[in-house]
Amino acid sequence: MGVALGLELLAQGGELAGHLNRSAEGRRQAAQRLGVPGAADLPSLAARGPELWLLTVPDASLPEVVETLSPLIEPGQYVAHTSGATSVSVLEPCAARGAVTLAFHPLQTVTASPAPELFRGISIAVTPGTGGGAWEAGLRLAELLGARPFPLRDEDRALYHAAGVMASNYVVTLAWLARQLFQRVGIPADGALDALLPLTTRAVENLREVGIPQALTGPLLRGDLATIARHLSTLEEEAPEALPAYRALGGATVGLLTEHQLLPEATLSELEQMLAPPAPPEPSDPSTSPKGTR
Ligand SMILES: NC(=O)c1ccc[n+]([C@@H]2O[C@H](COP(=O)([O-])OP(=O)(O)OC[C@H]3O[C@@H](n4cnc5c(N)ncnc54)[C@H](OP(=O)(O)O)[C@@H]3O)[C@@H](O)[C@H]2O)c1
Repeated sequence: MGVALGLELLAQGGELAGHLNRSAEGRRQAAQRLGVPGAADLPSLAARGPELWLLTVPDASLPEVVETLSPLIEPGQYVAHTSGATSVSVLEPCAARGAVTLAFHPLQTVTASPAPELFRGISIAVTPGTGGGAWEAGLRLAELLGARPFPLRDEDRALYHAAGVMASNYVVTLAWLARQLFQRVGIPADGALDALLPLTTRAVENLREVGIPQALTGPLLRGDLATIARHLSTLEEEAPEALPAYRALGGATVGLLTEHQLLPEATLSELEQMLAPPAPPEPSDPSTSPKGTR
């Protein structure tokens, strides 16, 4: 995320005072990609007097980074983190030193090889923290990236981020699961993804073109109970590791069908029963268990 944002801000005429990694190798790679020398430590980065600190470290590292950074903060500097789920209050030690704080979360998936113009047209959730002008700073930064900022309440961040994970990360997980099933039927791993991708891409395009629920097709929409039953029994026998995900998403799809009244109630309740996770085994009655086996 740090390199992707840095590259895009530079491309839009922004100025990058520097960047920091923990490892010399990380610093070398970031400097090579950004074309801007990295700093050896926080004090030397602070000496460059940045207007804005963008903390793009993993969520769990934020408190430690904020603690190290806060004594170096100059009043009026902006400090933003890019975590989706983390409260803006994690930046409070910097706010206590006079910084204007905000959470700035690009709703985009960024790999180690980010594509150019990755932020153009996307949404960016901005949660203002402490200090005047935090929202305006988020707005300016988002506009520089060609993105659409929207305000997000701090207490809503985890729920908002769970939605992002489902819409993006789990698509990859689903492709991995589907690829495993294809491999079971003899389609090699590289060919399997190639074969699956047009299906995924079309489903996403359908979402864009006709939305929910019209983008939904398949046996659940058709109320094809026999086909679903065959899927369940085959998965149980041949790929039991994929069964919980199939059941969970099937159950969620029944929710979608119910909300939009796309099937008769009797079919919906039958599907719901078929897809429900199997009941956990009854705990054995302690009064009847032999001594020492409880
Ligand atoms: N990737 C995404 O799709 C995405 C999307 C939206 C938001 N975000 C958010 O962006 C942030 C970064 O995510 P990411 O996916 O880019 O993570 P990442 O690929 O793991 O990169 C994190 C970077 O932080 C550096 N780092 C880790 N601990 C550090 C520390 N204590 N001090 C200084 N640098 C440190 C690491 O480099 P060294 O190991 O060399 O120090 C690494 O370059 C997270 O808050 C995440 O929630 C990510």
